[in-house]
Amino acid sequence: MAAEGEVKRLGKLTVALGTLTDKNVKLVKLLNGVAFPVSYNENVYEEILQHPDYGRLAYYNDVMVGAICCRVEKGGTNGHAAKRLYIMTLGVLEKYRRHGVATQLMEYVLKKLETETDIEAVYLNVQTSNSAAIAFYEKFGFKNVKTAENYYRANIDPPHAYVLFRPRDLDATDVTYE
Ligand SMILES: CC(C)(COP(=O)(O)OP(=O)(O)OC[C@H]1O[C@@H](n2cnc3c(N)ncnc32)[C@H](O)[C@@H]1OP(=O)(O)O)[C@@H](O)C(=O)NCCC(=O)NCCS
Repeated sequence: MAAEGEVKRLGKLTVALGTLTDKNVKLVKLLNGVAFPVSYNENVYEEILQHPDYGRLAYYNDVMVGAICCRVEKGGTNGHAAKRLYIMTLGVLEKYRRHGVATQLMEYVLKKLETETDIEAVYLNVQTSNSAAIAFYEKFGFKNVKTAENYYRANIDPPHAYVLFRPRDLDATDVTYE
């Protein structure tokens, strides 16, 4: 057992990644329903299906334990013709957290971006109290670039979100959020 104050390390679970389809999007909805404090509108799932290249489901022993869903957006820094990737949802079932599942989903997305040079950055919104997700994204080089006050319309406390942003190429100093 980990001593008080010591972080318990649980070891990596290697997951298989599957594609997002109109057949399994319901599973993603179920997963997000238990993983997130907010529930997403139906149109979020319709949108997710428009960007299947950036939607991945993580399976451990044939059980879906996590998923990442993104959309590609037009518009980059200072009117660059570039695009951005917006992470709409990234969730892992509670029992499977701290086993590197979200890391494998994020690594998949970042690897895919290496081949899509017209996408200059990745960003997302996260509830200001979500320290687990903030620590997770910081590990991948995301920076907190803005506080979006009253971002969440649902009755959740706090209702505010941070915008976390990272250029696709971490050393690209000319790629900024604004
Ligand atoms: C955020 C979330 C997706 C992380 O998933 P996960 O599979 O547990 O993440 P990983 O195991 O890959 O974690 C990688 C690293 O992120 C950081 N991290 C993850 N969870 C953390 C936590 N609770 N506290 C501190 N750091 C954390 C750690 O540095 C961790 O590495 P380590 O375990 O070797 O210390 C998961 O907690 C989750 O589903 N939360 C609810 C949904 C959500 O808030 N999604 C994010 C908003 S889109």
